[in-house]
Amino acid sequence: MHGPAALQLTPDGRLKHLLTTEGLPKSLITELLDTAETFLSSQGQPVKKVPLLRGKTVVNLFFENSTRTRTTFDIAAHRLSADVVTLDIRTSSASKGETLFDTLKNLEAMQADLFVVRHSAGGAPFFIADRVTPNIAVINAGDGTHAHPTQALLDLMTIRKHKGDPANLSVAIVGDLKHSRVARSLIHGLRGMGCPDIRAIGPGTLLPSDLGYLGVRTFHCIDDGLRDVDVVVLLRLQKERMTSALLPSEREFFNLYGMTESRLKLAKENAIVMHPGPINRGVEIANEVADGSQAVILDQVTNGIAIRMAVMAMTLSTQQGGHS
Ligand code: CP
Repeated sequence: MHGPAALQLTPDGRLKHLLTTEGLPKSLITELLDTAETFLSSQGQPVKKVPLLRGKTVVNLFFENSTRTRTTFDIAAHRLSADVVTLDIRTSSASKGETLFDTLKNLEAMQADLFVVRHSAGGAPFFIADRVTPNIAVINAGDGTHAHPTQALLDLMTIRKHKGDPANLSVAIVGDLKHSRVARSLIHGLRGMGCPDIRAIGPGTLLPSDLGYLGVRTFHCIDDGLRDVDVVVLLRLQKERMTSALLPSEREFFNLYGMTESRLKLAKENAIVMHPGPINRGVEIANEVADGSQAVILDQVTNGIAIRMAVMAMTLSTQQGGHS
């Protein structure tokens, strides 16, 4: 692995931070998914906690809104018996002009062991990982339009659980890929797992220009793109990241690209429907699909706890000299 992504691995290939799925070896992704599976099986027990991170302090730094990621990181850290601090950025001294670097140094002085970082600026978790004291792990919980690696891992876990090895599957990603860190990280993760057929479906204004370079086939006609796929991943329109109007209206988008029961029939009979959330009913997904038997959207959320437990356990084990 080269460039900024090299920050996340030790010279012998162990995970010390999780910043991106780009270039992550298949063996490491598989180890993360397998570890998460073991945590998932413990979640059905009356006592869900394990003592792996007892005495460790996890700091959640969410500079951008979140429901699923923030809550599941919080639950995951508690289930690993860590002490968890969630900094409310709106009431923190960031509003008084304190820089990200100085906030970081102050939290280090409080003996934090792991930072979970979400930021609207692409690269912010890399900046932090490059500057933290050795022994502190950094996990990217979503940076700008760049990367959302734990989302990609929980997506891969969900795909593997329901449909088997991604190396045998066709996956279609539908909607606003241009502004989606989820799509970018999932594409890198699917490529890492050897997925032979990744498709992007959407209008030209919502598809990034480098998809061919990433080995992704593009379709502007949804009926062509959905044909015989095993997995359908839907994305919402990320209006907060659009700098100009990129489509006539949400109604128009639903008419052309919204997932309805009849469109879903073009995919394989038992295809699964995924969505990272939050879903916008009647825009990218019809009610009957969101609530239908092929949707695994809430299973993705449950898997997110197990994946985040696995990532925290593995990165801290590497940083602090233990064995996962
Ligand atoms: N999937 C996802 O990142 O959701 P949140 O923004 O609610 O965390």
